Amino acid sequence: TMKAILETSLKAYKEGKPFAVGAFNVNNMEQMQGIMMAAQETKAPVIVQVSRGALKYAQDLYLVNIIKAGAELNPEVPLAIHLDHGNSFETVKRAIDLGFTSVMIDGSLMEDGKTPSTFEYNVKVTAEVVKYAHDRGVTVEGELGTLGGIEDGVGSGKTVLTDPDQAVEFVEKTGVDALAISIGTSHGAYKFKGEPKLAFDIIEEIRKKLPNTYLVSHGSSSVPQELIDIINQYGGKMEAAKGVPIPALQKAITCGINKINVDTDSRLAATGAIRKFFVEHPAAFDPREYNTKAREAIAAEVKKKIEAFGAAGRA
Ligand code: G3H
Ligand code: 13P
Ligand code: NA
Ligand code: ZN
Repeated sequence: TMKAILETSLKAYKEGKPFAVGAFNVNNMEQMQGIMMAAQETKAPVIVQVSRGALKYAQDLYLVNIIKAGAELNPEVPLAIHLDHGNSFETVKRAIDLGFTSVMIDGSLMEDGKTPSTFEYNVKVTAEVVKYAHDRGVTVEGELGTLGGIEDGVGSGKTVLTDPDQAVEFVEKTGVDALAISIGTSHGAYKFKGEPKLAFDIIEEIRKKLPNTYLVSHGSSSVPQELIDIINQYGGKMEAAKGVPIPALQKAITCGINKINVDTDSRLAATGAIRKFFVEHPAAFDPREYNTKAREAIAAEVKKKIEAFGAAGRA
């Protein structure tokens, strides 16, 4: 379960040797293989997570069985299969039926996955999922707050950083194992207009008030400039892309973050590798050739993340 894996991170934090477990999104076989190559090589625990969009893209059974193959082929890697941003009790139930050992119910948003919800709605849907999941030995991640840049939040009404006291009330009322908190990060490749800024004080306060809850940072891709440069050099257009700098993530880990979600960076790695391959081999047309390049680039990027999060050698 994800609980067993994240407990190693929480224990290490309490012992003064903090590290975070990387949670990498999977949409296809090459991504799963790249993640397993990196975890195997670095001897790290890892979480692979699947969004609703990924389940739809891959017709869920294809993806679940690819992930199960990865688990079977790499028995030394501590691995959890986690549903990312579940939006309803039904989605969660389907994931558990498919064999997920961990689920996220994101009740911070309504079922459309866009509209912010009320605290009461969030508590209700999350508590319902916790009851069902815990009866089946499945870990649950909830979310409180609305992701977005700290500056965006001032007066815009879009970003809502997580309130530490409300976080305590939320965990008490729902019984979630892990909590995703809003600390200034956002999903995608364009996270900050100006200087990247995270609310480290909020992480520290929540960590102090909830010493036994696993804390999760979503939207944590670092959008490495070298990957953006490759994309732009080979025909792409992603000039203003900006992510969370690695030192900021490392500081967040020392403040108490246990799980760091990364999706965008493997997308960038794959896209850069494929763009480069086609520019250099305009006559190529065998998908195995460019997908091999994508897989290698994903593995290299995931390896960097695992090392930066201090998770290497923690398996
Ligand atoms: O949290 C969002 C993840 O990056 C998944 O994105 O819904 O496009 O698969 P997606
Ligand atoms: P990124 O878009 O920063 O990779 O975030 C992924 C995420 O939070 C998945 O839940
Ligand atoms: Na949210
Ligand atoms: Zn997310």
